[in-house]
Amino acid sequence: MMKEKRIALIKGDGSGPEMIDAACAVAVEAAKKDGIQIIFEETPMGWNAYEKYGDTLPDESLKKAVEIGIVFLGGVGDPKFDETIGVKNPEMKPEARALLALRKEMKLLLNFRPIVYHKSLAHLARVKPENIPSEGVEQIFIRFLLEDSYFGTTDLIDEINENDRARLGIKSKDNVIGNEEIITELSYYRKETVEKYFREAFSYARSKKLPLISIDKANVMSRYDFWRKIATKIGKEEFPDVPLSHQYVDSANALLFTPARLHGVIACGNEHGDILSDGAAAAFGSMGMMCSSAINPDNGAAVFESGAGTAPSRAGQDKANPLGRILTAAMMLRHIGAVNGASAIEEAVNNILKDGYRTADLFSATDDPNKLLGTSATGKMVISYI
Ligand code: IPM
Ligand code: MG
Repeated sequence: MMKEKRIALIKGDGSGPEMIDAACAVAVEAAKKDGIQIIFEETPMGWNAYEKYGDTLPDESLKKAVEIGIVFLGGVGDPKFDETIGVKNPEMKPEARALLALRKEMKLLLNFRPIVYHKSLAHLARVKPENIPSEGVEQIFIRFLLEDSYFGTTDLIDEINENDRARLGIKSKDNVIGNEEIITELSYYRKETVEKYFREAFSYARSKKLPLISIDKANVMSRYDFWRKIATKIGKEEFPDVPLSHQYVDSANALLFTPARLHGVIACGNEHGDILSDGAAAAFGSMGMMCSSAINPDNGAAVFESGAGTAPSRAGQDKANPLGRILTAAMMLRHIGAVNGASAIEEAVNNILKDGYRTADLFSATDDPNKLLGTSATGKMVISYI
């Protein structure tokens, strides 16, 4: 008897639907190895949902996604719409309205972004081969996915009192002349969430027998000074066996090109993790290979989103690389207990790359043109290897 498992599905915008369709087929097939029958239930969000329902975050979709608790996401956002509907309705932009809302509503504190180095794609890496140790590198970003500057985006200028405004040399909205306008945004961290976050990050590093590298900007920003103090205290008191080091975000960024220097679990704030994880994925070859999961550590609710964009320029052409979504599906299967299926997907992806199959973004002059695959054929190829 197969055990049924419901998963909310947001196909999304741009090439999202094509990539996610390929990944869903792979997930369904692989989960059978663990006796699990996945039932995807669509919960539309993004510009596609706006076209159909007049909202990038339909109420019903949000409710159902939260109720199901496990979400598979193709990706939302498309500049084509930002420049049309988005100009008149900036509050509808789905990155903030749908994706950030989902993260907040489901309290997804931890964003796992393992940066996987595929040997068969070594020629695409921006990192020099001699900078990659033969035993490989493990770089697992855990991005703090709440708070920071992503959720405090109300313009606060009118809430600052006159004395403080005078001290800061800024004017109230009414008194602004010419180009004196100023935009404010609240960047904040709460002690409770940062402490919870570090306990999770340290536990994960301990389970992987990896050091914890904490990223901050404690030399100039008070919220990162706060961040570093909490990391240090929790490390010392509760995880003395896990090696802890600190890196300023700017120097960490430079170290992406000598990845062995960032071998470990990388703990970083929301904004720093957003920026560094794209750089790390590109340094190793292609953003299209990026995989990502966002987890609520208290109740296991999770969104599986690749972290890369929606490849809008390739939309409708069956050309986008679905492997990031497919590797994200493996993370999702592991989370729901389909561990055999998860490993089978990861192995299959490695093997199709080893055998020379390529998507357009991975294709280079020395590759065999007969092994260039479209989005849906890539999914089918992965299934045939499972
Ligand atoms: C990511 C993306 C999102 C983020 C956007 C689409 C809101 O860039 O998941 O990295 O900034 O978190
Ligand atoms: Mg990003």
